[in-house]
Amino acid sequence: MSKNVIIVGGHGNISLRLASLLSPKHTVTSIIRTDSHAKDIVSIPAKPVVLSLEESSVEEFARAFGGQDVVYFCAGAGGKGGDERTKSVDYEGAVKVFDAIEGVDGRKPRLVLLSSIDVRDPERVPKHYDERDVEISKKYREVLGTYVKWKYEADKELSKRTAFKWTMLRPGGLRDEPGTGKACVGKTHLTPGIPRADVAKALALLVDREDAAGLGIDIIGGEVPIEEGLDAFIKKGETDFLG
Ligand SMILES: NC(=O)c1ccc[n+]([C@@H]2O[C@H](COP(=O)([O-])OP(=O)(O)OC[C@H]3O[C@@H](n4cnc5c(N)ncnc54)[C@H](OP(=O)(O)O)[C@@H]3O)[C@@H](O)[C@H]2O)c1
Repeated sequence: MSKNVIIVGGHGNISLRLASLLSPKHTVTSIIRTDSHAKDIVSIPAKPVVLSLEESSVEEFARAFGGQDVVYFCAGAGGKGGDERTKSVDYEGAVKVFDAIEGVDGRKPRLVLLSSIDVRDPERVPKHYDERDVEISKKYREVLGTYVKWKYEADKELSKRTAFKWTMLRPGGLRDEPGTGKACVGKTHLTPGIPRADVAKALALLVDREDAAGLGIDIIGGEVPIEEGLDAFIKKGETDFLG
């Protein structure tokens, strides 16, 4: 069934691919920060709406979310603008989106949030990690500590929300290689990385997976067709986000 879908962070590398995958079947709106990106959105074709996670209000986002079936959150400061901006986009911006979904009158849209692998309580190491994962995780936190901290705070906050259905997709390191249509989904190691095109494909498949509500789903490069891997993980129903 065709759905109304809105993407926050709509001009991002993954979001542009996601909109292209969804737009043949669904009505896609992409939230961008500047009018100069509008032509790229229109050519998908999708509908551009200009709003900023830092400048616009919860009410403005709630208005944009009215009548939508699914909200995707794919925005991120991307390390630009220092620690403060990481906090204001990756954490406060995400919370603004959660509040805005709650502020939609009547039926609330679902949220599919693009997070990251290994976002967790640093004291709780997942049981399936091996020594190499523990070492990679330690380095990841040394290099990207602020990013992981604010992503974790956002994900923890989301996990408490019950007014709308949500799912987190948690990819490993993103690569700009052609997609393979295959991946390793759920209870994964931390490497290898995954092409952005394959992350976009997984996000697009989640449009129809209301049964993924409440799940955090790890995804890295691998050999299983993405649809099959996602389906098996969702049917098992054991989240990768430990809270
Ligand atoms: N890099 C990795 O290895 C990795 C691994 C796992 C997960 N992730 C996550 O995946 C996300 C998406 O990846 P990507 O490659 O698609 O990133 P990207 O190309 O940097 O896209 C991020 C988007 O967020 C938008 N944005 C930034 N600040 C905003 C604001 N204040 N209001 C509204 N939108 C704003 C940017 O807008 P502009 O285009 O206007 O700048 C951009 O379009 C990342 O942000 C990260 O959280 C990354």
